[in-house]
Order: sequence, then C-alpha cells, then structure tokens
Amino acid sequence: MKANIVLLPGDGIGPEVTQAAKAALGAIAKRFGHEFAISEALMGGAAIDATGEPLPAKTLAACQEADAVFLGAVGGPKWDKSEKRPEQGLLAIRKALGLYANLRPAVTHPALYDASPIKADRLEGVDIMVVRELTGGIYFGEKEEGTDAAWDRCAYSGEEVDRVLHQAARLAKKRGGKVTMVDKANVLATSRLWRRRTEALFAEHYPELELEFLLVDAAAMHLLSRPASFDVLVTENLFGDILTDEAAMLVGSLGMLPSASLGNSGPGLFEPCHGSAPDIAGQDKANPFAALLSSAMLLELGLGLTEEAQILKEAVYDCLTQGQCTGDLGGKLGTKAATQAVLARII
Ligand code: NAD
Ligand code: IPM
Ligand code: MN
Repeated sequence: MKANIVLLPGDGIGPEVTQAAKAALGAIAKRFGHEFAISEALMGGAAIDATGEPLPAKTLAACQEADAVFLGAVGGPKWDKSEKRPEQGLLAIRKALGLYANLRPAVTHPALYDASPIKADRLEGVDIMVVRELTGGIYFGEKEEGTDAAWDRCAYSGEEVDRVLHQAARLAKKRGGKVTMVDKANVLATSRLWRRRTEALFAEHYPELELEFLLVDAAAMHLLSRPASFDVLVTENLFGDILTDEAAMLVGSLGMLPSASLGNSGPGLFEPCHGSAPDIAGQDKANPFAALLSSAMLLELGLGLTEEAQILKEAVYDCLTQGQCTGDLGGKLGTKAATQAVLARII
C-alpha cells in the first residue's frame, strides 16, 4: 500500500526516538512491499526557534494531508519561560485534527517485572487500555494568568463525554468486557456530568458490559494494588494524563508506553506518552520502545496494517525477553543499539 506519513520529531529525546520510529516504518515497508512517503515537519520548541510558532501553518497543513502522523515529544527548559510554549503546539494539533480519544495501553511483560517498583505477583496479567479524553476539559477551557491570581476553567459538554465513552465501550467489547470510569464526582460538576452520561449511555447501548466507577484518588491507589482487575479505563483529559504516567511504572518505564490519538475521520496522531526528557536528551539513553510501539499502533490503527503491527510488536517484545534494552529497563543498550536490535528482527 501507499501511505503518506508525517513525522514531528520535536524536542529533547523527541528526534532520537522519532529516528527509531522512522527506521522501523522503513523496515516494515521494505519487508511487506509498501510505499511509505515519510516526511518531517517542525513542531514544538524546534518550530518556535525556526518560525516563532509552536505549530506552524505549514506543519498543520502537512499533517491534515497525511494518512498518519507520528510525534516524538515537545518541550524543554529552554522554552519554559517563553511567551509561546511548545506544548501549545501539541494541544493545537490534537484539537485541529479532532483527536478526542487518546488510547494508552499499559501491558506488563514478565521480562520487565524487575524494572517495576511494584511486586511481581501484582503485575501478572496486567493489560489496561486507558482511554483519555483529549480535546476538552481543563486543558482547553478559558484561562487567566495574573501575577497574584490565575484560573483555569474546566468544562465538558455531554456530546464530548458521550463520544469518548462510545470509543471506550467499543474497545471493551473486543477486550475483557469491563469499563472503569474515573472521575471526581464527589467534588466536580463536570465529573457528575460524566457520571450521569456514563450511567445512561451504558444502560442504553452497552448493558452487557461490566461498569465500574472510581474516584480518581482511589483509582490512583487501585491501579497499584489491583492493576490486573482493570480492562478499559476511561477518564477526562487531566486525570488520564496523570494516571497513565503512573500506569507506565507498572510496565517498568515511561519509555514503554505508546499512544494513539484518534478522531472520527482524518489522520490519527501516534506518540509515546513520555515527554522530551531533557535530563537524558542527546545522550543516546532514551528508550525507543514507546516510540516503536506507537509506530505499531500507527500501522494497525492508522493504516489498518494488522500483521505488520504484530511483527513490529513481536520484535520489541523479543528484544525485551533477550534483555536487549536501554538502561531505564536495566539493560545495557543505547537508543540506537536497542533500535538496531528491533530492526534486525524485522528484516
Ligand atoms: P518526561 O516524560 O520528559 O520525563 C520524565 C522522566 O522519565 C525523566 O526522568 C525522563 O528521563 C524519563 N523518561 C521519559 N521518557 C523516557 C524514555 N523514552 N527513556 C528513558 N527514560 C525516559 O517528563 P518531564 O520531565 O516532566 O517533562 C519534560 C518536558 O517534556 C516538559 O517540557 C513537558 O512539557 C514535556 N512533555 C511532552 C510530552 C509530549 O510531547 N507528548 C509529554 C510529556 C511531557
Ligand atoms: C502528554 C503530555 C502533554 C499532555 C503535555 C506536554 C501537553 O503530558 O502527552 O501526556 O498533558 O497531554
Ligand atoms: Mn503526560
């Protein structure tokens, strides 16, 4: 097949892990006879430096025309005090492409039990799909930033809630048949809206699914004490951001968590959950596996190439089983060598 893929390397370790994704997509294309036209565009801090904007119009246009978009990571101390922030570009592209559902799978693997701070017996069989609402909530509400006071508005419409709930329910039907909805309904009005919509929508459309409600503070605890009991976890934008970094530590490292951001139509955006990791940037230390697993999600969910995605995933997991991984997982390889180890299993 022919596909037009746009890469947004971004900042810090972003370009390092994007190189890994590019090489893996190239290797898959070669093995299966696909023609991937892979191009790169400016995004985040790199784009601010070059153009003054975190998401230049040219970049957005290229993404809108693409079949799928891959993003490394954006942000870093260099831009933390600048008027325009790299992160604004990421929020803007998610909004512009209508990517309201962010799928973040956290799947443990026996080879990584030692890398997790959680006891091994809790990690057996953990396979959680977090569905994070991505284009609403407090991230996108009006805000005011004064010297002595500031506020951020958190708002959701019923329609915004329903569409991401449908996405979570459809996934649960194909998986373990359970959905956990996480909110703060004891305090927040938006959370009470989420809860009412969930009750009504599941009663009407998905009565066969098991439905659990958790308050976000307790959910943070249950994720560690009984992670294997979760199947699909659906929640609002901010809670989903926080809980997925926590879930990454069940797997063993933030460098292991991939993601897919999807809308109703148009290209999806595929990106590791981690950030630009300024503390290890430029040192060949970044774990490329979250980026490679995000590329597998791009193949499967972005291009419909299921077998190709499976081959890439298996290559990553085989490396893990053989101990061929980066330092965050207790391995000895650098970013480039870990990527090569995966590529050697694809070609
Ligand atoms: P971070 O995810 O960049 O790093 C947190 C910790 O995890 C660091 O110790 C880092 O070294 C480690 N880590 C992250 N990815 C890793 C990998 N692939 N391999 C090995 N170790 C890895 O979070 P942070 O330090 O809070 O944020 C740094 C910058 O990244 C900020 O500017 C933030 O806004 C941005 N950020 C961007 C994204 C994104 O682009 N999607 C996501 C999160 C944070
Ligand atoms: C993520 C990041 C972003 C978010 C930031 C960089 C805007 O933390 O993708 O998880 O909060 O969504
Ligand atoms: Mn995050």
